[in-house]
Amino acid sequence: MEFKLNRRNFVKGAAVAGAFLPSFNILHAEEGKVGPKDDQINVALIGYGAEGRVLSNSLVRIPGVRVRAVCDIWKFQCQQAKIFFKSFGMEVTTYEDYKEMLEKEDKNIDAVVVATPDWMHCEHTCACLRAGKHVYCEKEMSNRLELAAEMCRVQKETGKLLQIGHQRRSNPRYRHCFENIVPNMLGRITTAYAQWNRTLAPFFTVKRPPKQDILTKYGYENAEQFLNWRWFYKYGGGSMVDLGSHQIDLFIWAWGVPPSSVRAVGGRDAFDPPRMAYDRMYCIYEFTMPDGKKNEAIYQVISSNAHGSFYERFMGVNASLTIAELSALGNTVQREVRAGGYSEADWQKFIDKGWILPNAGDKVKKALTKDIAVDSRISVPADANQLSVTLNKPAHMPHLENFFAACRHGAKLNCPCELAYESAVAVLAANVSADSGNVYRFKPEEFKVPPRPAAPKA
Ligand SMILES: NC(=O)c1ccc[n+]([C@@H]2O[C@H](COP(=O)([O-])OP(=O)(O)OC[C@H]3O[C@@H](n4cnc5c(N)ncnc54)[C@H](O)[C@@H]3O)[C@@H](O)[C@H]2O)c1
Repeated sequence: MEFKLNRRNFVKGAAVAGAFLPSFNILHAEEGKVGPKDDQINVALIGYGAEGRVLSNSLVRIPGVRVRAVCDIWKFQCQQAKIFFKSFGMEVTTYEDYKEMLEKEDKNIDAVVVATPDWMHCEHTCACLRAGKHVYCEKEMSNRLELAAEMCRVQKETGKLLQIGHQRRSNPRYRHCFENIVPNMLGRITTAYAQWNRTLAPFFTVKRPPKQDILTKYGYENAEQFLNWRWFYKYGGGSMVDLGSHQIDLFIWAWGVPPSSVRAVGGRDAFDPPRMAYDRMYCIYEFTMPDGKKNEAIYQVISSNAHGSFYERFMGVNASLTIAELSALGNTVQREVRAGGYSEADWQKFIDKGWILPNAGDKVKKALTKDIAVDSRISVPADANQLSVTLNKPAHMPHLENFFAACRHGAKLNCPCELAYESAVAVLAANVSADSGNVYRFKPEEFKVPPRPAAPKA
């Protein structure tokens, strides 16, 4: 989805989205001052680390978006940000402290992108929303559920937009799968599987991390924890929260309901010495459908072997979908060959619709079919067709574009905070289950944001 802003669609959009127009610095529609300069959305970025850089790479490519300010407590990152944005013709003012940035840049910015470690998301997001800015905040919403809930409450109170960075929700390949393929081609999906396997990697180190007084000022105990925050529960939620958060969200998207239980087992000794958070986790999520039937999703994240890398698979009685954010790792729909299933002629109809590409001749399947004596234990492997939709821009760009389209003319956010809250509830419970050794059974009301707890009496 690419939105090109011009005067005509800007004014049309402005009429539709009247509710949040006046807060925009860019908007002078009533005064008849809309022009090329006014079409611009001015953005600040908090956190110019690995993901801040990935997002910046898209931000500079989205027409009408101008990055004005960057905040990072690490001076080195601020210097790098200045150089990067300058190479795209954007002069950014840099700040160590987000409060100072919000105060000084109030008139200059319309929206803020938050890409700091998970534990800071609530503080940064809520401050920006309260300052009247729309916010795009990275996943996981928070490593603590009560903070994720507070983000939702502040979004509601301020009426500003809050998009959470589960970027697959805007990826046209994933949208094609969840809008067309999952509901219309797979049949009943009893089983889904996803994995994120990574090779054993030492802690990050750098020659010159920020000085200890800066780290202490911003709550980091030392440089090791600052650089490797994901592995410490104070700042992150381990690999389940870091990586699982993307994929568990897809199970919820596919079945249209949050899970009813999760049973997780974790291990901590792949590293020597062991890390604080689980380095591997194996989960079974159960989903109870509105008709009472149950489906299961199996999830694995490991940090000691990268075999198979990362992908998601949805296994229906009629076909399976395998998809990954990198299409080389997953991009197929595979027919189930069974009595009562799709015939080749039925399958051809999906090709004719343009949902999947014609099969170029599956040599592996043909060879296997010849060799396998088909009996009740073995199913004939089916055809695998490539998906017809491709993404030819950086993976995070469509999600940012969706956010800016919502800011400009009221497009529907693809991952508003309530949706991300549901998946945060599901993901964080896996750590609870692994810690306790018990099945975690969700109550349906857990997926709704609770009211703010009363302040303790003095
Ligand atoms: N959507 C995705 O695909 C994706 C991928 C990677 C990371 N992420 C998310 O992006 C966020 C950042 O992850 P990362 O990999 O870039 O981490 P990182 O450690 O590489 O970068 C974090 C940056 O934030 C800065 N920072 C820390 N505390 C700060 C504070 N209080 N104020 C201002 N700056 C501060 C650090 O100096 C650093 O530059 C996390 O929430 C992570 O889960 C999302």
